[in-house]
Amino acid sequence: MTLAHAYEAPPAPRRAHVVVVGNQKGGAGKSTVAMHLAVALMRMGKRTGVLDLDVRQRTLTRYVENRVRHITRGAQLPSPQILEVTESRARQLDAAEAEEGSVFKAALRRLSETCSFVVIDSPGGDSYLSRLAHACADTLVTPLNDSFVDFDVLGDIDAVREDVIRPSVYSEMVWEARKSKAASLRTPIDWVVLRNRTSTNRIEAKNKRRVADALKTLSNRIGFRLAPGLSERVIFRELFPQGLTLLDLDAPGGAGEMRMSHLAARQELRDLFVTLKLPGLEGEPLRF
Ligand SMILES: Nc1ncnc2c1ncn2[C@@H]1O[C@H](COP(=O)(O)OP(=O)(O)OP(=O)(O)O)[C@@H](O)[C@H]1O
Ligand SMILES: [Mg+2]
Repeated sequence: MTLAHAYEAPPAPRRAHVVVVGNQKGGAGKSTVAMHLAVALMRMGKRTGVLDLDVRQRTLTRYVENRVRHITRGAQLPSPQILEVTESRARQLDAAEAEEGSVFKAALRRLSETCSFVVIDSPGGDSYLSRLAHACADTLVTPLNDSFVDFDVLGDIDAVREDVIRPSVYSEMVWEARKSKAASLRTPIDWVVLRNRTSTNRIEAKNKRRVADALKTLSNRIGFRLAPGLSERVIFRELFPQGLTLLDLDAPGGAGEMRMSHLAARQELRDLFVTLKLPGLEGEPLRF
């Protein structure tokens, strides 16, 4: 995969604002965050489309399918428009990339015609499709597991001097995507990192603070904004089978009862949403 090949100009003209959720580490919460953002946008009255580039696991696709099934059983919920991007069967890498790339671009173009936002879930690991999507991002959201173990997805940090030793492969990939997008569309990528699954346990407060400090150092050096994080909550895992999000619980067709911890989790999502400063939504009262 040559870089020139990966960073061809994204499809134009476009109207939709593209939010890519990305992190090369597996299990950081990309698909969960992507679905919650899509539902938040719809609750704000925005037509929203989604693309699932994790063509193997298809977590976001299954999440949306579960939601549609729940709706056909009577739940009154908004559901995002989803277009499928399938894995190429071509044996040659170049041919497979070209095919997947053109399917992706066509899907993005089609969603852009009808939606004001497109949320793209990208796979863990490095893939051609993921690079292509990053180079189309207006906003890039990177959920990060709240531990030093997962830190290296952004960069190596010297714990004593509290300085960045080197940016990671992923940070360099985002750098390339930023250059490519600036050259083709002449617009920047707003990169926002959030900590996911932060512990609510007091004993871990010290570690949590150290991770926060190190992230701050990295954000200045690598060029991302920090968003308030999401705590570890079992509810996230329980919602998937019905295709629900935390923003649906007290809506018609939602799961009904809102416990204190659910309210706190929803507030975290609100704070994240506000921090993203998405176009056309600044100053709007939140409707979720
Ligand atoms: N804040 C949270 N609290 C508890 N569980 C969470 C939280 N965020 C995500 N999870 C759970 O963690 C698991 C991984 O999340 P998810 O599938 O969204 O990650 P991912 O980054 O998309 O993974 P992959 O790289 O495999 O695509 C899921 O079971 C999800 O329900
Ligand atoms: Mg995923």
